[in-house]
Amino acid sequence: METVVISLGGSILIPGDNDHIFLREISDLIREQCGDKRIFIVCGGGKVARYYISTARDLGRPVWELDELGIGATRLNARLLQMALGDVAVDHIPTTAKEAVEVSSKGKVVVMGGTAPGHTTDAVSAMVAEEAKASRIVNATSVDAAYSADPRKFKDAKRLKRITFEELHTLVNVGVHGAGPSNVFDKLGAEIAMRKRIPIYIINGRNLAEMKRAILGQEVEGTLVGE
Ligand code: UTP
Repeated sequence: METVVISLGGSILIPGDNDHIFLREISDLIREQCGDKRIFIVCGGGKVARYYISTARDLGRPVWELDELGIGATRLNARLLQMALGDVAVDHIPTTAKEAVEVSSKGKVVVMGGTAPGHTTDAVSAMVAEEAKASRIVNATSVDAAYSADPRKFKDAKRLKRITFEELHTLVNVGVHGAGPSNVFDKLGAEIAMRKRIPIYIINGRNLAEMKRAILGQEVEGTLVGE
């Protein structure tokens, strides 16, 4: 049985543009794909998380409380996606990677958000992939691939079709210092995937044909991170 973990960015899930239509479409795709697989979907917080985090930051609250609000938003998004998926979704939102695997089964979809303060849902997806011994991670983001630098800031940024785990690691670490792309994948997540050699497909999450190819482990228009 194949296991696939999808990190579904909040900007994909709730951009605020007739979101129910996309939720229906992605749910149809996941329902069609999950029969012979075990699928985990880790939802990001998107605008809702950013709103709560920035408001609490303006109140002068400590970082761990901002994270707590972010986690709350990711779980709210997870619940929304669960509702869209209906019967095929496990009717519980796990709060740890271990619990996610415990409640999972073939033909069902485990939907969750964050787990603990100090990282993002990309890292959670890598933790779940490690725990579940997943074949691959699909990082469904609002960029269509990984680039050598932030394409919005650097005109000569190169689109990367295939990179190694080590190259991704370098890329996300450069991002921390402000020079490179910041949102390709979480640093901790990249470290876990590198250590466990779990391939990552970085794709435009709004492109469902691309999402299907990534779930199936086929060639994508985005970036494949692997050996
Ligand atoms: P996201 O995973 O959506 O963060 O979690 P992000 O990658 O920063 O957001 P995008 O993709 O750019 O929109 C939202 C916030 O929730 C907290 C963090 O503060 C994170 O920034 N969080 C999330 C945690 O503290 N722990 C988790 O396990 C998940």
